[in-house]
Formats: sequence, structure tokens, C-alpha cells
Amino acid sequence: MVAETRLSVDDLIAPLFVSETLSSPREIPSLPGVVQHSQDSLRAEVERLAQLGVPAVILFGLPATKDATGSGASDPDGVVQVALRNLRADVGSDVVLIADLCVDEYTDHGHCGVLSSKGSVDNDATLDLYADIAVAQANAGADICAPSGMMDGQVLAIREALDDAGHIDTAILAYAAKYASSFYGPFRDAVEVAIADGGDRKGYQQDYRNGREALDEIAFDLSEGADMIMVKPALAYLDIVAAARAVTNVPLAAYHVSGEYAMVKAAAANGWIDGDAAMFEILTSIKRAGADMILTYFAADLAKALRS
Ligand code: PBG
Repeated sequence: MVAETRLSVDDLIAPLFVSETLSSPREIPSLPGVVQHSQDSLRAEVERLAQLGVPAVILFGLPATKDATGSGASDPDGVVQVALRNLRADVGSDVVLIADLCVDEYTDHGHCGVLSSKGSVDNDATLDLYADIAVAQANAGADICAPSGMMDGQVLAIREALDDAGHIDTAILAYAAKYASSFYGPFRDAVEVAIADGGDRKGYQQDYRNGREALDEIAFDLSEGADMIMVKPALAYLDIVAAARAVTNVPLAAYHVSGEYAMVKAAAANGWIDGDAAMFEILTSIKRAGADMILTYFAADLAKALRS
């Protein structure tokens, strides 16, 4: 009766991986219970999530080929665009379709942008790619584009491109405060990304020693036209979630990322913790900190558990 915080299926966004080459789903060893989907198995999974009442999914693509500019990301027949068209036909407006907007799954060097001649990511050249990807995703039926590459100015570039193409109602969920984190490991297995030359993303993702900086990142994204913002990862960043909540009134998402999920699964598989109880406790804490929406690989499990 007096519980202040309640998890609801309405809070959940399910991250899903779709492959251009697979004809049946493939397990991801470091993400137990999560698979790389074929187009067909993705359609079945989204139908299942819709029946469970999960309101939204976010799609990540695994292209058949990668190149220097990640051209598959903006190809009208690229893997995510095909998936968006299929899913829109299947579920109509019952499920919100979010497209992760980045090139790291599509570049042969694994970075979230194009490289300059010096080998570092060229921020402004990357914005042109992101603009093209946004239009391709919206043309294919995305309700929301979610830029995750942490390039400066990405929200404005995408907003202008969407508006110019007539997609004035396509919303932007900005990965506003995104940290260079060790908790993305299993995700990189899931999307088969290895950053070239042992590199990292510390040039464009945030340093985990910095909290106030996140509020600047959020303010920039809102001033550029973000409709919703995200903090990522979630559990080691609950202070950032709470601080973001205090300064914004737009919908706030938190991404409980792959490594956070995998740790619970691994400990539970060893019998060291109660996995279901940990799932509830962690996801409730993210909501208690102020998130309205949680991106989580637990989405289907939690939706089922909330029903029983
Ligand atoms: C980058 C992206 C990443 C994740 C979502 N989008 C990986 C990264 O920044 O290296 C990670 C999500 C997760 O770990 O679950 N496009």
C-alpha cells in the first residue's frame, strides 16, 4: 500500500539484435537468454513482446558486410530498415519501434563514426552519416531514432535532416549521458564489434569520473531538440539518473546494459544470488532514481513475472 515505486510493463523497452545473414536465431553466450535474430525470428519475438504488453523495442543491426563508413546503416535495404518495414506491417502502432542510430555495428574499424586521416573519429563528417541514417530509418517506419554515438551536434543534425525529409513527427531519444564503460562487453559480442587496434571510445564517450559533465551533455541535447534523453549504463550511474531527473521534465530513459544483465545471470547460474529477486531490485532502483523507461534485456522476463 505504501510502496513509493512500482515497476510496470509500461516502463520497458526491449533491445533486440537482428542479423542480415542468419536464417535462424543464434545464442549469444555472454548474454544468456538473448539471441541474434533472423528477420523471421525477430518478427515472432516482437509479436510475443506485444502480447506480453511490452510497449517498445529498440533495434540493433548486424550487417552482412562492414566498410569504412558503415554504409549499411543508411541503406534503404539495410538490415534494420528491412526489419522496421516488416515489424510495422506486423504490429501496426501497437509497439513503438525505436532504431538505435550509430555506425559501430557497420564499420570495419568498429568506431561510432568515420575516421580522419589521423585515425581518430571525425565528429563533423560523422554527422552527415547520422543525418542519412535517420532519414532511412524514418522512411522505413521508425517512430523514434536513438542516436548512440555521442558525437557533438548529433541531435541537431538528425532533427534538421528528419524535418527536411518531412518526418516532423519522428522523435529523438538521445543517448545524452553515455559513459565509456566496461559493462558493454557482451553487447560487443552480440553485434560482433571489435574496435580496431585495441582502441576504445574514450574520445567520445564520457569519463566515469565525471558527473556534472553529464548535465551539460543533457542540456546540449535538449537545446538541439531531443524529445527524450537517456543515461547509460544504469546501475553504476544511479546518481546521474537522479541528477538528470532533477533538471529535466522530458521522458528519461536508463539503459541497463549488457554487462549489468550478464553479471546477474552469471551469479544466478552459479546459485550465488536469486536472479529474479535481483532483477526486481535492480530495475526498481533504476526507477526509484527517477527513470521513466528502462531499456533492459530482462524485458520479457519481467513482463512475465509481473503477470504472475
Ligand atoms: C553503440 C552502442 C553500444 C551499446 C548500445 N549502443 C556499445 C558501445 O557504445 O560500445 C551498448 C549496450 C549494451 O551494452 O547493452 N552503438
